[in-house]
Amino acid sequence: MSKKMLVGFIGAGFITKFQRQALRQIPNAELVGVYALKGAKELAEAVRADGGDCRVYDSVAELCQNCDVIAIFVPNMARIEVMEQIAAAVKAGAPVKGVICEKPLGRNVAEAKKMVALAREAGLFTAYFENQIFMKANAVALAQLARVQKTMGPLTLVRTAEEHGGPHEPWFWDPTRQGGGVGTDMLCHCTAVARHLLTPPGKLPDFLQPISVQATTALLKWGQPKYREELKTRMGVDYLQTPADDYCTAVVKFLNPETKQVIVAQCTSSWMFDKQGLRLSMEGMGPGYAFEVNTLQSPLSVFIADAAADAIADGESALEKATATRGLLVVQPNEADLYGYTEEMADAIEAFSQGRDGFLSWEYGLEITKLVMACYLAAEKGVTLDLTDQGVQTDLETYISLIAQGKGHGVLGVQA
Ligand SMILES: NC(=O)c1ccc[n+]([C@@H]2O[C@H](COP(=O)([O-])OP(=O)(O)OC[C@H]3O[C@@H](n4cnc5c(N)ncnc54)[C@H](O)[C@@H]3O)[C@@H](O)[C@H]2O)c1
Repeated sequence: MSKKMLVGFIGAGFITKFQRQALRQIPNAELVGVYALKGAKELAEAVRADGGDCRVYDSVAELCQNCDVIAIFVPNMARIEVMEQIAAAVKAGAPVKGVICEKPLGRNVAEAKKMVALAREAGLFTAYFENQIFMKANAVALAQLARVQKTMGPLTLVRTAEEHGGPHEPWFWDPTRQGGGVGTDMLCHCTAVARHLLTPPGKLPDFLQPISVQATTALLKWGQPKYREELKTRMGVDYLQTPADDYCTAVVKFLNPETKQVIVAQCTSSWMFDKQGLRLSMEGMGPGYAFEVNTLQSPLSVFIADAAADAIADGESALEKATATRGLLVVQPNEADLYGYTEEMADAIEAFSQGRDGFLSWEYGLEITKLVMACYLAAEKGVTLDLTDQGVQTDLETYISLIAQGKGHGVLGVQA
């Protein structure tokens, strides 16, 4: 058996709980180190409690000295500084082969481009983590429909959505740090997975050409005075001063360059979805066939009556962003698998050990960042954006949304 890939995490927050579980299921890789401003000790202890051996390092450089693979799991605004340190460590001789970055690759196109350049200059293989593309439910849907797609013609419409009641840490809510609102946070998933599902079997991830975007950004719940106050108290952000979108929806048209057929993705992300917890949904339609994925449907549910003496043990480990601990509850037995984290990590490890990029390279991550920025620009201007127009492409290179600049009042209808 080939040597195990030694993996180091930068960041030790929410996503690393899933990614740690994912890594535990991959035999040829091991989490051996972590560097983070907060939570590193707890993460290393959890790994040790599971029988692993994970060390806490005091710097990115030291972590890089001891790992084959580095995964960037820090907040969006810390991406570049961390990647600069990784690149410097590799140039100074650290043995890192590949680097993973969680979505979004950057808060805007310029940042995503910088990430790509830093990785390539340092000679690193890359994997961009867009977990929904690796969801088993989606892979099985495509496999089962492969024959019918061939005989009847490919999917023509895909609707995707990622929705929950709002993120767990203040930085997500602050558009000037996060890079926007729910659009930068989650529309990347929805556009990427929609494009993936629409891609005819056997074609590469960038086969379909995005040709136009229409989009709406809105502040539907968290801009109302009552919820704005709640947000100020809980998260320390004031949506009267710096509002961000809690709802974002886009229609993206793609061109199949071989058949010249135009196909459509309808993508929605929201932080004002007050149901049991996180819902990912994908729905596809082709001539004479269809499929549907809904992660709020689980083979496991539990029920706790009002009369019961206690609630369930841990709502958040039952379902991501769970909002209730009583009543009829959806419980997902293995969210790392369900949402595609295990498969995406396995793909990156295999790719790096074979000396290549993951299925989704950082160049792909850059394209998705561009698509999300196009959604913000289309929403800001209130127009259908023609992505085949060179002028639009040039504008996107330097575009930073008004929402990300803390000036989203006009777009979101907030009176400052
Ligand atoms: N794929 C998904 O569905 C998904 C879900 C959640 C988060 N994410 C992404 O993962 C990333 C991390 O999100 P999270 O929810 O874990 O955030 P978090 O706030 O829970 O954790 C962030 C971690 O990074 C550390 N950190 C912050 N700045 C740092 C720096 N400069 N150097 C070193 N460590 C630093 C923090 O101390 C903390 O340990 C984000 O980019 C987010 O978009 C993806």
